[in-house]
Amino acid sequence: MKIINVVGARPNFMKIAPIMAAYGEHPSIDPLLVHTGQHYDEKMSDLFFRQLGIPEPDMNLEIGSGSHAVQTAGIMTAFEQVVLEHKPDAVLVVGDVNSTIACGLVAVKLGVKLIHVEAGLRSGDLGMPEEINRMLTDTISDFLFVTEKSGRENLLSEGVDESKIFFVGNVMIDTLLRNKSKSEESTILNDMGLTGDYAALTLHRPSNVDDPVVLGRLLDALEVIQNDMPIIFPIHPRTRKNLQASVLGDRVAGMTNLRLLDPIGYLDFLKLMSSARLVLTDSGGIQEETTILRVPCITLRENTERPITAEVGSNTIVGTDVDKILAAYRKTMSDGAGDSQIPELWDGQAAQRIVGILADRI
Ligand code: UD1
Repeated sequence: MKIINVVGARPNFMKIAPIMAAYGEHPSIDPLLVHTGQHYDEKMSDLFFRQLGIPEPDMNLEIGSGSHAVQTAGIMTAFEQVVLEHKPDAVLVVGDVNSTIACGLVAVKLGVKLIHVEAGLRSGDLGMPEEINRMLTDTISDFLFVTEKSGRENLLSEGVDESKIFFVGNVMIDTLLRNKSKSEESTILNDMGLTGDYAALTLHRPSNVDDPVVLGRLLDALEVIQNDMPIIFPIHPRTRKNLQASVLGDRVAGMTNLRLLDPIGYLDFLKLMSSARLVLTDSGGIQEETTILRVPCITLRENTERPITAEVGSNTIVGTDVDKILAAYRKTMSDGAGDSQIPELWDGQAAQRIVGILADRI
């Protein structure tokens, strides 16, 4: 049985790593790995392959950046040739990036079964490109592997047949648990001279970083927090470009305790999160990772597609209002992570479950 596995952007790499490893226990499956090239910088891509032990991709479509239509269409055109040539029994896609829906569409139109890992998550916000990608990918998938119970409920309410839905846990957490002890060897804290409390920050959502008004509001809140403790900010290329293109770049340069870094590798970031007093983010995956690490997370978005992290975990969804961010910050400083719990099946075995089900059923 031949399965083509697709990755494109940074958050896909941590999801595919344990799946590629789990295929090793099933010799009946012949896995191929395709990188669309949506992310291409060394620090956004190759570094993750090396650190996570992901095999070299069998093919790189080298699509790169572009508008949504240009990027999605480019991936589809190139991936169609791959599917026609290799005639897989199934295509497996992860997450919610443009590569996910682009390759999913190609597969089903060629009559190839589609597997979606991390299905069913919904923010309810169609202003997010990822929400569109999630909904469309789920609609056309044959196997939908969900990470939390809300995923199953969302799919059932959208009319997905129950027999296609499998609650298996979270492959991103498989990777975290596998790499936690290795990340302890990271020297990032020493390298940055961090000895006391600090916050870790990531920001890359278009709704936060493409609009100077919103980004300016976030900086108002960060300015207050950095007066209390250093904020370590590995900055996404999209965010850096936007700062450089506006006067906000000068403002950031004037905040001496807001410390910008180029994107950092998985192991350094895991270490940075684990030891932080709190994490501020608009990422999806980081809400999940901080839940397992039991580090308080303040999510700078109005909604989350990962509600379990706020229900049982240490995540607070605050949006982008300055007063709300600072209120959550002050509460976090007094309460810590509280008595947060680990979500069901986030136990490091999700990839084995997924590959076991595929080996049985395809
Ligand atoms: C993409 C995903 C998002 C995910 C994020 C993680 C979509 C719609 N969005 O957003 O869900 O959370 O990746 O990073 O798929 N760039 C570089 N080097 C790179 C890649 C990108 O400089 O290696 C710059 C380019 O200027 C590019 C911009 O970043 O135009 C945005 O890249 P793109 O892939 O379009 O989306 P992301 O914002 O990275």
